[in-house]
Amino acid sequence: MRIALCGGTGDIGEGLALRWAYDTDHEVLIGSRDPEKARTKAQEYETELDSRGVDRTVKGFANEMAADRADVVVLAVPPYYVRDTVEGFAGRLDRDTVLVSPAVGMQRDDAGLHYHPPSEGSVTAVAAAAAPDEVAVVGAFHNLSAGRLANLDVELDQDTLLVGDDEDAVDIVRMLAAEIEGLRPLYAGPVANAAEIESLTPLLINLAKYNDELHDAGVQFG
Ligand SMILES: NC(=O)c1ccc[n+]([C@@H]2O[C@H](COP(=O)([O-])OP(=O)(O)OC[C@H]3O[C@@H](n4cnc5c(N)ncnc54)[C@H](OP(=O)(O)O)[C@@H]3O)[C@@H](O)[C@H]2O)c1
Repeated sequence: MRIALCGGTGDIGEGLALRWAYDTDHEVLIGSRDPEKARTKAQEYETELDSRGVDRTVKGFANEMAADRADVVVLAVPPYYVRDTVEGFAGRLDRDTVLVSPAVGMQRDDAGLHYHPPSEGSVTAVAAAAAPDEVAVVGAFHNLSAGRLANLDVELDQDTLLVGDDEDAVDIVRMLAAEIEGLRPLYAGPVANAAEIESLTPLLINLAKYNDELHDAGVQFG
């Protein structure tokens, strides 16, 4: 499978790219608004993998080109740019492409971060509204720490909650998540339930702010 990470030059994109390249044989494409930046970052990720004895090719492209080539496209960009990012390549997507939204709307004040959903109810719903009707959107990876993902020395031992309306698309993302060692995907219902998942992220960041030992915290259910 070919996975494109649009905004894969950033934190969560880096973490997911490294884990998929390290733990699986899937092809990983890095997307950016600037293809040169994507190529530079892709090379950095290859160097990191190589230093661990893993010989993988990671390629960099403009977001549109990465999305055009991929089976699964992760929208690893800040929440306010999810709509524009999807609209930027919507016309190039095959009908069986799966879009994945990890983005969370948050606002910061002195106390910490607060959940700030868009008027659609969640960023996952924004992505679904921006995507062509036939393209499925799955919300996933919202509650993972990018730092923990990107540090391949650390065992993840975490859950990730999935939401989506299309069973086949959810199954694909569930499989990709489960292939990351130490990550357990759990289905939490349709896109209408995305806000409950997204809203956990500011809580996790606030816990990290007030508790040193919870730096890079995630969730585990059971
Ligand atoms: N960081 C985490 O631990 C974490 C965990 C879970 C979920 N998330 C969510 O994942 C999303 C990305 O988080 P992040 O921490 O990876 O963010 P980030 O590092 O700040 O940004 C990711 C990438 O977004 C792209 N970008 C920036 N401005 C943009 C714009 N105006 N239009 C399109 N793309 C733009 C940039 O790529 P280019 O400049 O290369 O285009 C950047 O490298 C957020 O919505 C966040 O809520 C983050």
